[in-house]
Amino acid sequence: MGSHRSPLLGLILPLFLLLTCSVSIPVVSSTKRDVAVLLQVKTDQLDDPNNELNNWVETSQNAPCDWTGITCDPQNGAVISIDLSNLAVAGPFPANFCRIPTLQNLNLFNNYINGSLFSKSLSLCSRLHSIDLSSNLFTGDLPEFSPDFINLTTLVLSLNNFTGAIPASFGRLPSLKVLRLVSNFLNGTIPESLTNLTELTHLELAYNPFFSPLPESIGNLTKLENLFLPFSNLIGKIPESIGNLVSLTNFDLSDNNLSGEIPNTIGGLKSVVQIELYRNQLSGELPATLSDLPSLVRLDVSQNNLTGNLPERLGGLPIEVLGLNDNNFHGEIPESLATNPNLSVLKLFNNRFSGNLPVDLGRYSDLTFVDFSGNEFVGPLPPYLCYRKKLAHLCTFSNKLTGPIPTSYGDCDSLNYVRMFGNNLSGPVPVGFWGFSGLTFLQLDDNNFDGSIPPSIAKARVLTNLRIAGNNFSGEIPTGICQLKELVALDASRNKFSNKMPSCMTELSELHSLNLGDNMLAGEIPEGVGSWKNLTNLSLSHNNFTGEIPADLGSLPSLAFLYLDGNSFSGEIPVELTKLKLTKFNLSNNKLEGEVPSGFNSLFFLQSLMGNPGLCSPDLNPLPKCPKPKRVSMYVVGVLVAVALLMIGIFIWLLKTKTVCILFSKKPGILKITSFQRVGFNEEDLLDSLTEENLIGSGGSGQVYKVKIKNGETVAVKKLWGGNKGADTEAVFRAEVESLGRIRHANVVKLLVSCVGEDFRILVYEYMENGSLGDLLHGDKGGVLLNWARRFSIAVGAARGLAYLHHDCIPPIVHRDVKSNNILLDEDFGPRVADFGLAKTLQCNVKESDEEMSGVAGSCGYIAPEYAYTLRVNEKSDVYSFGVVLLELVTGKRPNDDSFGENKDIVKWVTEVALASAEVGSGMATNPRIDWAKLIDQRMSLSTTDYEEIENVLNVALLCTSASPMSRPSMRKVVELLKN
Ligand SMILES: *[C@@H]1O[C@H](CO)[C@@H](O)[C@H](O)[C@H]1NC(C)=O
Ligand SMILES: *[C@@H]1O[C@H](CO)[C@@H](O)[C@H](O)[C@H]1NC(C)=O
Ligand SMILES: *[C@@H]1O[C@H](CO)[C@@H](O)[C@H](O)[C@H]1NC(C)=O
Repeated sequence: MGSHRSPLLGLILPLFLLLTCSVSIPVVSSTKRDVAVLLQVKTDQLDDPNNELNNWVETSQNAPCDWTGITCDPQNGAVISIDLSNLAVAGPFPANFCRIPTLQNLNLFNNYINGSLFSKSLSLCSRLHSIDLSSNLFTGDLPEFSPDFINLTTLVLSLNNFTGAIPASFGRLPSLKVLRLVSNFLNGTIPESLTNLTELTHLELAYNPFFSPLPESIGNLTKLENLFLPFSNLIGKIPESIGNLVSLTNFDLSDNNLSGEIPNTIGGLKSVVQIELYRNQLSGELPATLSDLPSLVRLDVSQNNLTGNLPERLGGLPIEVLGLNDNNFHGEIPESLATNPNLSVLKLFNNRFSGNLPVDLGRYSDLTFVDFSGNEFVGPLPPYLCYRKKLAHLCTFSNKLTGPIPTSYGDCDSLNYVRMFGNNLSGPVPVGFWGFSGLTFLQLDDNNFDGSIPPSIAKARVLTNLRIAGNNFSGEIPTGICQLKELVALDASRNKFSNKMPSCMTELSELHSLNLGDNMLAGEIPEGVGSWKNLTNLSLSHNNFTGEIPADLGSLPSLAFLYLDGNSFSGEIPVELTKLKLTKFNLSNNKLEGEVPSGFNSLFFLQSLMGNPGLCSPDLNPLPKCPKPKRVSMYVVGVLVAVALLMIGIFIWLLKTKTVCILFSKKPGILKITSFQRVGFNEEDLLDSLTEENLIGSGGSGQVYKVKIKNGETVAVKKLWGGNKGADTEAVFRAEVESLGRIRHANVVKLLVSCVGEDFRILVYEYMENGSLGDLLHGDKGGVLLNWARRFSIAVGAARGLAYLHHDCIPPIVHRDVKSNNILLDEDFGPRVADFGLAKTLQCNVKESDEEMSGVAGSCGYIAPEYAYTLRVNEKSDVYSFGVVLLELVTGKRPNDDSFGENKDIVKWVTEVALASAEVGSGMATNPRIDWAKLIDQRMSLSTTDYEEIENVLNVALLCTSASPMSRPSMRKVVELLKN
């Protein structure tokens, strides 16, 4: 409406119109009225902190049609639309906008409109065609709609905090086509009256805590295209009438509590493209009528109780993604699936399917993902599975498959994840199969494979897991294996490998677990084992290793399991090994000799030492006594020393082995002390040091002290309140001890000692010189100490720590309180994940590893949205919180920074700014004029390459903070994406 008029014309025209053109008089006055209404709302009802509406002035040339967000009817200049989306305006619902009688559309999407939406004020708006109030701060009940709203076609109230039930009056909007109430706190029953809305094309009510069946008469909505109700607490059966929804393209009822059978009538969904019914309690068989759906591209019924055979004609559909996993399906896979030209993703795992896999599978379609695991399949692997060279994910484990891996698989360069363990597969593995450049996981254990590992395994540069135990592999372990710098776990046990272990294997510094037990390996353990800094488990049992046990093993910071039994190791047991905090170790049945180091001189270790005829001990029956020193005086001294050593030994042993320490404790308060690492202090030093001057922090659960102990080391001591004040103390304490006590990782804080007193609990950690990330970032020093490079390495390190908890701990650990204050920084700003007071281990057998939590956990601003209505956390909730931490690192702002406005958090804010920018065009590296400057912490000085990295981190952060847990990457993936 910004046409250019001369000032003269501007003066004359209204006069002219007034005098000559009576038809136009209402237009002029309506314009005046609209201007008045708009300005009145602007000044009286809207808070506009960013002055987005500063061109709303009467004197503008074409007021109000050239104002921000205003659209006028080109014919008569009357205001027909107000669109103030994304302007950060605040205040109560500006109902007076609706006093403009020509107004048709009101869009206030993504602002800070708050308070209730009262039926009375809304009643002014009955002439509107479209109302969008989504993504605001509305609370309270939904308004009632009067019968006057006869023209309303679109009503969008998603992403607010509306509570209560949907009023029946919503069913009296005769023109309504689009109804979106996604992500509120709506409860109660979905009113049957909604099925009167026969014009409806979109019914989207997902992410609300209803407790409701789907209305029986849902089938009345014959124009419905999108029925979107995941995560809505739906109960009861899927109504028969569903089959009348002939226009439906998306049918999504996933993640509810629906039960009963899928009705046969589903075959009536002639237009349906996607059916999502996963994670319900549906039972019975798949209806044969599913095969009548001519447009069905994605079908996911996984994680239900479905049973029976697959309908024979299922494969005849244009299906691309088929998810049937975690049900009780049985019978064979129809051949028609194999000839389907569209099939890309096939998830059949955890059922009772049997028979052969279809021979032609993969031949006629671009298969990318197949998972047959956990079934009863027999016979050979299908030869064409990777015919189209797209296959990335191949899981066939836990079946009864036989025969070799087809040679054609050796060219399947697209593979990155392979798990075939637990079958009866045999023969040599195709040479190419070992060396795919993108392969991260290769698991072939417990089959009958033979042949050797080719040197070309060196090409699998990103392999993290190589598990080939329990086969008949033979020959040497090739030196090529030393090129696999990302290797975390290598299990080649229970094979026939021979010759020496390549000395370069000590260069595999990422290794957490190395198991070469039960082979025919010989020679010495190579030099340089000291570089296995991450090694937790080393097993070389039952081979022909010779030479001495390297003393360096005693310096491995994480080693907890050491099995060297059943070899020919000789020499003395290195005293350095006693420095390790070993959970299990076994040196039995070797040729070790000399005196058992005092640290092992206890019954506790006896079984681990037996079968070494040369070993002696002063007192450990039935080991022979060590030869007595000759001279009497020396004898006496010897006895005294031995006694002293023994006492020290017992004391150390008691300290180390979770033993009640009350015997030795002079302080009556202490009941039990448990030490998880080698420490140079006792409980008395500890208690004495908890003085006021050492106090560095005090919080809800207790106090934190910084204590310098006698050997010069500094530790952090957390004293948890006891008594009434500490109702949760015990839970916090236990969670912390149970999770932290058993893990070692460079990016997870080390718990050194725990101590139980009568009315207190104490936890001792390594001291972190630079405090918490939260303090550094949000305290005064942030700009100076945390440049981008540092922030980035903190991001990667913390991600590694969490990935370790989620993926490498058994059972996995969910932290549940990931936040910047719980990421501590050592003197080099290396990050460690800390504070496990809310941590919870996940039981493996719980479906999808999620578990209901009682009570609220986590910290404000970091809690994943699903938590609010499900109280279910899984590791994806941690991922969300970590995403928030990434956003803090980039923006330097707190998760609930005041500048976001009340009740708005960092995720909402960043998403908004990013979306606004995305609309303008492209990334920030290439388009610096966009609002990215608003996002990035101005206290950093940045180079161009920094910008690229920041953009990447931001993208990862946004992915992590996706509203849907399923869209969030795993922490392992996060590490990968960050390093990208
Ligand atoms: C509904 O829309 C039609 C066509 O735009 C219009 O003629 C009618 O007056 C409107 N009714 C109401 C109550 O606004
Ligand atoms: C909306 O609900 C969320 C989650 O319970 C809460 O954090 C937020 O403060 C609420 N907002 C308003 C405006 O009530
Ligand atoms: C719905 O939630 C409100 C609080 O928002 C509560 O008072 C009411 O009892 C709930 N109704 C049902 C049926 O659960």
